[in-house]
Amino acid sequence: MPASDKLIIALDVSEHDYAIDLVEKFKDYVGIFKVGFELFISSGPKIVEDINKKGKKVFLDLKFHDIPNTVSKAAVAATRLGVHMFNLHTSGGLEMMKRCRDSVVEVCLKENIDRPKILGVTILTSLSREVLRDELGIQHGLRTHVRHLSSLALKAGLDGVIASAKEAEIIRNHCGKGFLIVTPGIRPSWTPPDDQKRTVTPKEAIRAGADYLVIGRAILQQSDPLKAIELITLEVLSA
Ligand code: C5P
Repeated sequence: MPASDKLIIALDVSEHDYAIDLVEKFKDYVGIFKVGFELFISSGPKIVEDINKKGKKVFLDLKFHDIPNTVSKAAVAATRLGVHMFNLHTSGGLEMMKRCRDSVVEVCLKENIDRPKILGVTILTSLSREVLRDELGIQHGLRTHVRHLSSLALKAGLDGVIASAKEAEIIRNHCGKGFLIVTPGIRPSWTPPDDQKRTVTPKEAIRAGADYLVIGRAILQQSDPLKAIELITLEVLSA
């Protein structure tokens, strides 16, 4: 896979036209564009259509977390929109994940749609071990919990998970080769961590076994974003 196909840019902006300008600017360097809450809520589903029209793939990052029926219906709607990937919280449980996958497979077969990749969010990269223990009441270690949630995603038939690259190795060992590992919380050595707690550099992420790197501020908030992409691509290649 070329280095550019491993990069997912997080379009964490609110204006449709600005997002499309960014897609135009970066489309030769990046395979997939991530549409999250901010952009989707302010621009609506048309943003997905317009990115697809530019020949680029969309990762719809709405992190579904609800009862199985509601999540399945949202997943079918996302599938019909033509997204390449979307995600849901693994902590929504096995039945939620399974029903979501089954509904997506069914609609794809019936309506002849390409099946999107379904990814399970494990533990947000902005959460630390302390938050997990003291606020969320999860007593075992962070890695153990990520491994557990990844196994659940695999059992439900999901295509992979979203996790910090700090946990990529343990996920790979546990869930096998074809299971996708998508890693946010990427920070090259020249950028601050911001609100992310479990960060790694692009090189470390690839070496740890990440399939895709989700990168937002380390590109978009640089004075020269194209230069930032170039440096990140070089790091990915050197890994
Ligand atoms: O700017 P930064 O590179 O930290 O952005 C990371 C992106 O990945 C954000 O859009 C964030 O919502 C998303 N994300 C994350 N952690 C997850 C899942 C998604 O940071 N577990």
